[in-house]
Amino acid sequence: MSGGAQIVLSAQHARLALEARQIGSPAVVLSLDLGLSTAELPLHDAGLLLPTGDYLGWGCLEEVAAAPTSCFVVERGSVRKIQAFSALTNRYYSLFPTAGAPTMLAAGLPMHRVQDTDPWRDTLSKIKAAGLAQRRAHWRVLDTCTGLGYTAIAAARAADEVVTIELDPAAQEIARHNPWSRPLFELPTIRRLIGDSADLIEQFEEASFACVIHDPPAFALAGELYGLRFYQQLWRVLRSGGRLFHYIGDLDSKSGARVARGVMERLRQAGFPRVVPRYEAFGVAAVKE
Ligand SMILES: C[S@@+](CC[C@H](N)C(=O)[O-])C[C@H]1O[C@@H](n2cnc3c(N)ncnc32)[C@H](O)[C@@H]1O
Repeated sequence: MSGGAQIVLSAQHARLALEARQIGSPAVVLSLDLGLSTAELPLHDAGLLLPTGDYLGWGCLEEVAAAPTSCFVVERGSVRKIQAFSALTNRYYSLFPTAGAPTMLAAGLPMHRVQDTDPWRDTLSKIKAAGLAQRRAHWRVLDTCTGLGYTAIAAARAADEVVTIELDPAAQEIARHNPWSRPLFELPTIRRLIGDSADLIEQFEEASFACVIHDPPAFALAGELYGLRFYQQLWRVLRSGGRLFHYIGDLDSKSGARVARGVMERLRQAGFPRVVPRYEAFGVAAVKE
Protein backbone atom coordinates (compact mmCIF):
# COMPACT_ATOMS: atom_id res chain seq x y z
CA MET A 1 0.00 0.00 0.00
CA SER A 2 1.16 3.56 -0.68
CA GLY A 3 2.56 5.70 2.17
CA GLY A 4 0.02 7.73 4.13
CA ALA A 5 -2.90 5.68 2.86
CA GLN A 6 -5.64 4.62 5.28
CA ILE A 7 -5.48 1.13 6.74
CA VAL A 8 -8.65 -0.83 6.06
CA LEU A 9 -9.34 -4.33 7.35
CA SER A 10 -11.99 -6.98 6.91
CA ALA A 11 -12.54 -10.23 8.83
CA GLN A 12 -10.67 -12.28 6.24
CA HIS A 13 -7.44 -10.36 6.92
CA ALA A 14 -7.89 -9.93 10.69
CA ARG A 15 -8.30 -13.69 11.02
CA LEU A 16 -4.87 -14.27 9.49
CA ALA A 17 -3.29 -12.24 12.31
CA LEU A 18 -5.27 -14.09 14.98
CA GLU A 19 -4.35 -17.47 13.52
CA ALA A 20 -0.66 -16.53 13.30
CA ARG A 21 -0.71 -15.47 16.94
CA GLN A 22 -2.32 -18.75 17.95
CA ILE A 23 0.50 -20.79 16.43
CA GLY A 24 3.13 -18.50 17.98
CA SER A 25 4.36 -17.00 14.71
CA PRO A 26 6.53 -13.86 15.10
CA ALA A 27 5.02 -12.20 12.00
CA VAL A 28 2.17 -12.45 9.52
CA VAL A 29 1.67 -11.51 5.88
CA LEU A 30 -1.69 -9.84 5.34
CA SER A 31 -3.39 -7.01 3.47
CA LEU A 32 -4.07 -3.60 4.99
CA ASP A 33 -5.97 -2.42 1.89
CA LEU A 34 -8.58 -5.12 1.27
CA GLY A 35 -6.38 -7.29 -0.91
CA LEU A 36 -4.74 -4.74 -3.19
CA SER A 37 -1.32 -5.36 -1.61
CA THR A 38 0.22 -7.34 1.24
CA ALA A 39 2.70 -6.52 4.00
CA GLU A 40 4.68 -8.57 6.51
CA LEU A 41 3.88 -7.34 10.03
CA PRO A 42 5.44 -8.34 13.37
CA LEU A 43 3.20 -9.73 16.13
CA HIS A 44 3.68 -8.58 19.74
CA ASP A 45 1.87 -9.05 23.02
CA ALA A 46 0.43 -5.57 22.51
CA GLY A 47 -0.96 -6.52 19.10
CA LEU A 48 -0.08 -6.22 15.44
CA LEU A 49 2.67 -3.69 14.72
CA LEU A 50 1.45 -1.49 11.86
CA PRO A 51 3.69 0.34 9.35
CA THR A 52 2.63 3.57 11.10
CA GLY A 53 4.42 2.38 14.26
CA ASP A 54 1.11 1.97 16.15
CA TYR A 55 -0.04 -1.31 17.63
CA LEU A 56 -3.45 -2.65 16.71
CA GLY A 57 -4.59 -4.51 19.83
CA TRP A 58 -5.83 -8.10 19.77
CA GLY A 59 -9.26 -6.98 20.98
CA CYS A 60 -9.64 -4.80 17.87
CA LEU A 61 -8.59 -7.65 15.59
CA GLU A 62 -11.13 -9.94 17.29
CA GLU A 63 -13.84 -7.30 16.75
CA VAL A 64 -13.03 -7.16 13.01
CA ALA A 65 -12.80 -10.96 12.69
CA ALA A 66 -16.25 -11.30 14.29
CA ALA A 67 -17.92 -9.03 11.69
CA PRO A 68 -17.62 -10.77 8.29
CA THR A 69 -20.04 -8.38 6.56
CA SER A 70 -18.19 -5.17 7.48
CA CYS A 71 -14.99 -3.31 6.64
CA PHE A 72 -13.15 -1.26 9.27
CA VAL A 73 -10.84 1.71 9.05
CA VAL A 74 -7.98 1.79 11.54
CA GLU A 75 -7.75 5.12 13.33
CA ARG A 76 -5.27 5.92 16.10
CA GLY A 77 -4.89 2.30 17.16
CA SER A 78 -8.61 1.48 17.15
CA VAL A 79 -11.11 0.34 14.51
CA ARG A 80 -14.30 1.95 13.16
CA LYS A 81 -16.91 0.33 10.90
CA ILE A 82 -17.13 1.97 7.47
CA GLN A 83 -20.79 2.96 7.41
CA ALA A 84 -22.86 6.13 7.16
CA PHE A 85 -26.45 7.27 7.47
CA SER A 86 -27.69 9.84 4.97
CA ALA A 87 -30.31 12.33 6.08
CA LEU A 88 -30.64 13.31 2.39
CA THR A 89 -31.87 9.93 1.18
CA ASN A 90 -32.72 8.40 4.56
CA ARG A 91 -30.49 5.44 3.72
CA TYR A 92 -27.72 3.52 5.43
CA TYR A 93 -24.57 2.87 3.44
CA SER A 94 -21.76 0.50 4.32
CA LEU A 95 -18.71 -1.09 2.74
CA PHE A 96 -19.25 -4.83 2.31
CA PRO A 97 -16.17 -7.06 1.87
CA THR A 98 -15.80 -9.82 -0.72
CA ALA A 99 -12.80 -11.98 -1.60
CA GLY A 100 -11.84 -9.20 -4.07
CA ALA A 101 -13.05 -5.61 -4.37
CA PRO A 102 -15.69 -4.66 -1.79
CA THR A 103 -19.16 -3.49 -2.73
CA MET A 104 -21.32 -0.83 -1.09
CA LEU A 105 -24.62 -1.69 0.53
CA ALA A 106 -27.29 1.00 0.14
CA ALA A 107 -30.41 0.34 2.19
CA GLY A 108 -29.13 -3.23 2.51
CA LEU A 109 -28.80 -3.79 -1.26
CA PRO A 110 -25.39 -4.47 -2.88
CA MET A 111 -24.46 -1.93 -5.56
CA HIS A 112 -22.53 -4.56 -7.58
CA ARG A 113 -22.99 -8.20 -8.46
CA VAL A 114 -21.39 -10.49 -5.90
CA GLN A 115 -22.96 -13.85 -6.79
CA ASP A 116 -20.83 -16.01 -9.13
CA THR A 117 -18.66 -12.95 -9.78
CA ASP A 118 -17.15 -10.04 -7.85
CA PRO A 119 -17.63 -6.25 -8.02
CA TRP A 120 -14.54 -5.65 -10.14
CA ARG A 121 -15.38 -8.36 -12.71
CA ASP A 122 -18.94 -7.02 -12.72
CA THR A 123 -17.50 -3.59 -13.54
CA LEU A 124 -15.36 -4.95 -16.38
CA SER A 125 -18.38 -6.59 -18.00
CA LYS A 126 -20.21 -3.21 -17.96
CA ILE A 127 -17.11 -1.52 -19.41
CA LYS A 128 -16.90 -4.08 -22.21
CA ALA A 129 -20.60 -3.75 -23.01
CA ALA A 130 -20.11 0.05 -23.20
CA GLY A 131 -17.35 -0.38 -25.81
CA LEU A 132 -14.60 0.70 -23.42
CA ALA A 133 -12.54 -2.50 -23.35
CA GLN A 134 -9.98 -0.78 -25.58
CA ARG A 135 -8.32 2.65 -25.60
CA ARG A 136 -10.63 5.24 -27.21
CA ALA A 137 -9.08 8.47 -28.44
CA HIS A 138 -11.21 11.61 -27.99
CA TRP A 139 -13.86 9.82 -25.94
CA ARG A 140 -15.56 11.69 -23.12
CA VAL A 141 -17.61 9.37 -20.93
CA LEU A 142 -20.55 10.14 -18.67
CA ASP A 143 -20.94 7.83 -15.67
CA THR A 144 -24.35 8.73 -14.26
CA CYS A 145 -24.02 7.07 -10.84
CA THR A 146 -20.60 7.11 -9.17
CA GLY A 147 -21.13 4.72 -6.23
CA LEU A 148 -17.67 3.36 -5.37
CA GLY A 149 -16.38 4.77 -8.65
CA TYR A 150 -15.38 1.44 -10.18
CA THR A 151 -17.00 2.17 -13.56
CA ALA A 152 -15.47 5.66 -13.61
CA ILE A 153 -12.01 4.28 -12.76
CA ALA A 154 -12.19 1.51 -15.38
CA ALA A 155 -13.61 3.89 -18.01
CA ALA A 156 -10.80 6.38 -17.30
CA ARG A 157 -8.28 3.74 -18.44
CA ALA A 158 -9.77 3.87 -21.94
CA ALA A 159 -11.16 7.38 -22.37
CA ASP A 160 -9.76 10.94 -22.30
CA GLU A 161 -12.19 12.19 -19.66
CA VAL A 162 -14.87 10.74 -17.39
CA VAL A 163 -17.58 12.86 -15.77
CA THR A 164 -19.20 10.99 -12.88
CA ILE A 165 -22.19 12.03 -10.77
CA GLU A 166 -23.15 10.93 -7.25
CA LEU A 167 -26.37 12.00 -5.60
CA ASP A 168 -25.47 11.27 -2.02
CA PRO A 169 -22.41 12.75 -0.25
CA ALA A 170 -22.73 9.92 2.31
CA ALA A 171 -22.16 7.34 -0.45
CA GLN A 172 -19.08 9.28 -1.60
CA GLU A 173 -17.84 9.25 2.00
CA ILE A 174 -17.92 5.44 1.91
CA ALA A 175 -15.91 5.53 -1.34
CA ARG A 176 -13.31 7.79 0.36
CA HIS A 177 -12.59 5.01 2.85
CA ASN A 178 -12.36 2.28 0.20
CA PRO A 179 -8.81 1.50 -0.97
CA TRP A 180 -10.19 0.23 -4.30
CA SER A 181 -11.81 3.64 -4.93
CA ARG A 182 -8.61 5.68 -4.49
CA PRO A 183 -8.11 6.39 -8.22
CA LEU A 184 -11.56 8.04 -8.22
CA PHE A 185 -10.08 10.82 -6.09
CA GLU A 186 -6.61 10.80 -7.63
CA LEU A 187 -6.97 10.46 -11.41
CA PRO A 188 -6.92 13.90 -13.07
CA THR A 189 -9.08 12.58 -15.93
CA ILE A 190 -12.05 11.91 -13.63
CA ARG A 191 -14.36 14.85 -12.88
CA ARG A 192 -16.56 14.16 -9.86
CA LEU A 193 -19.89 15.95 -9.46
CA ILE A 194 -22.30 15.75 -6.54
CA GLY A 195 -25.96 16.13 -7.43
CA ASP A 196 -28.91 14.43 -9.07
CA SER A 197 -28.07 13.05 -12.51
CA ALA A 198 -31.62 13.76 -13.60
CA ASP A 199 -30.97 17.50 -12.96
CA LEU A 200 -27.30 17.83 -13.86
CA ILE A 201 -27.67 16.06 -17.21
CA GLU A 202 -29.87 18.94 -18.43
CA GLN A 203 -26.87 21.28 -18.05
CA PHE A 204 -24.53 19.26 -20.27
CA GLU A 205 -24.06 20.37 -23.86
CA GLU A 206 -25.76 18.48 -26.64
CA ALA A 207 -23.63 15.72 -28.23
CA SER A 208 -20.85 16.22 -25.69
CA PHE A 209 -20.23 12.56 -24.74
CA ALA A 210 -19.07 9.57 -26.81
CA CYS A 211 -20.36 7.10 -24.24
CA VAL A 212 -22.73 6.92 -21.28
CA ILE A 213 -22.60 4.25 -18.61
CA HIS A 214 -25.86 4.28 -16.73
CA ASP A 215 -25.64 2.12 -13.61
CA PRO A 216 -28.54 3.28 -11.43
CA PRO A 217 -29.75 1.76 -8.17
CA ALA A 218 -32.67 -0.69 -8.42
CA PHE A 219 -35.83 0.67 -10.06
CA ALA A 220 -37.57 0.79 -6.64
CA LEU A 221 -34.87 3.16 -5.28
CA ALA A 222 -34.49 5.51 -8.28
CA GLY A 223 -37.50 5.36 -10.62
CA GLU A 224 -36.72 8.73 -12.26
CA LEU A 225 -33.47 7.30 -13.65
CA TYR A 226 -35.55 4.77 -15.63
CA GLY A 227 -37.97 7.33 -17.10
CA LEU A 228 -38.50 8.61 -20.64
CA ARG A 229 -37.49 12.18 -19.74
CA PHE A 230 -34.12 10.98 -18.45
CA TYR A 231 -33.60 8.72 -21.49
CA GLN A 232 -34.31 11.67 -23.81
CA GLN A 233 -31.49 13.51 -22.03
CA LEU A 234 -29.16 10.52 -22.48
CA TRP A 235 -29.90 10.65 -26.22
CA ARG A 236 -29.37 14.43 -26.33
CA VAL A 237 -25.95 14.42 -24.62
CA LEU A 238 -24.59 11.55 -26.72
CA ARG A 239 -22.81 12.45 -29.93
CA SER A 240 -23.76 10.74 -33.19
CA GLY A 241 -22.49 7.15 -33.06
CA GLY A 242 -22.25 7.45 -29.26
CA ARG A 243 -22.84 4.37 -27.13
CA LEU A 244 -25.00 3.72 -24.11
CA PHE A 245 -24.81 0.88 -21.63
CA HIS A 246 -27.69 0.70 -19.14
CA TYR A 247 -27.33 -1.75 -16.25
CA ILE A 248 -30.62 -3.33 -15.19
CA GLY A 249 -30.05 -6.62 -13.35
CA ASP A 250 -30.39 -10.27 -14.35
CA LEU A 251 -32.36 -10.15 -17.62
CA ASP A 252 -33.22 -13.83 -17.17
CA SER A 253 -34.99 -13.21 -13.87
CA LYS A 254 -38.72 -12.41 -13.82
CA SER A 255 -38.29 -8.91 -12.40
CA GLY A 256 -35.19 -8.16 -14.51
CA ALA A 257 -37.03 -9.17 -17.70
CA ARG A 258 -40.03 -6.99 -16.75
CA VAL A 259 -37.91 -3.92 -16.01
CA ALA A 260 -35.86 -4.54 -19.20
CA ARG A 261 -39.00 -4.60 -21.38
CA GLY A 262 -40.04 -1.16 -20.11
CA VAL A 263 -36.48 0.23 -20.36
CA MET A 264 -36.08 -0.96 -23.98
CA GLU A 265 -39.45 0.46 -24.97
CA ARG A 266 -38.71 3.89 -23.44
CA LEU A 267 -35.17 3.99 -24.88
CA ARG A 268 -36.68 3.43 -28.35
CA GLN A 269 -39.20 6.21 -27.70
CA ALA A 270 -36.29 8.45 -26.65
CA GLY A 271 -34.69 7.98 -30.07
CA PHE A 272 -32.44 4.91 -29.85
CA PRO A 273 -33.55 2.79 -32.82
CA ARG A 274 -31.84 -0.44 -31.79
CA VAL A 275 -31.56 -1.50 -28.17
CA VAL A 276 -29.93 -4.86 -27.60
CA PRO A 277 -29.91 -7.00 -24.48
CA ARG A 278 -26.44 -7.76 -23.08
CA TYR A 279 -27.23 -10.76 -20.90
CA GLU A 280 -23.63 -11.28 -19.71
CA ALA A 281 -23.48 -7.69 -18.43
CA PHE A 282 -27.01 -7.70 -16.92
CA GLY A 283 -28.12 -4.74 -19.02
CA VAL A 284 -28.90 -3.31 -22.44
CA ALA A 285 -26.77 -1.42 -24.96
CA ALA A 286 -27.75 1.11 -27.60
CA VAL A 287 -26.08 3.37 -30.15
CA LYS A 288 -27.19 6.86 -31.21
CA GLU A 289 -27.32 6.24 -34.94
C1 LIG B 1 -25.38 0.92 -8.48
S1 LIG B 1 -24.52 2.21 -7.70
C2 LIG B 1 -23.35 2.64 -8.91
C3 LIG B 1 -22.12 1.78 -8.82
C4 LIG B 1 -20.98 2.35 -9.62
N1 LIG B 1 -21.19 2.17 -11.03
C5 LIG B 1 -19.65 1.79 -9.18
O1 LIG B 1 -18.86 1.42 -10.04
O2 LIG B 1 -19.39 1.67 -7.99
C6 LIG B 1 -25.65 3.53 -7.78
C7 LIG B 1 -25.15 4.85 -7.15
O3 LIG B 1 -25.98 5.88 -7.67
C8 LIG B 1 -26.26 6.82 -6.66
N2 LIG B 1 -27.49 7.54 -7.07
C9 LIG B 1 -28.77 7.24 -6.77
N3 LIG B 1 -29.62 8.11 -7.36
C10 LIG B 1 -28.83 8.97 -8.07
C11 LIG B 1 -29.12 10.10 -8.88
N4 LIG B 1 -30.37 10.50 -9.09
N5 LIG B 1 -28.08 10.77 -9.45
C12 LIG B 1 -26.79 10.36 -9.23
N6 LIG B 1 -26.47 9.29 -8.46
C13 LIG B 1 -27.48 8.60 -7.89
C14 LIG B 1 -26.37 5.98 -5.41
O4 LIG B 1 -26.16 6.77 -4.24
C15 LIG B 1 -25.26 4.94 -5.64
O5 LIG B 1 -24.06 5.40 -5.09
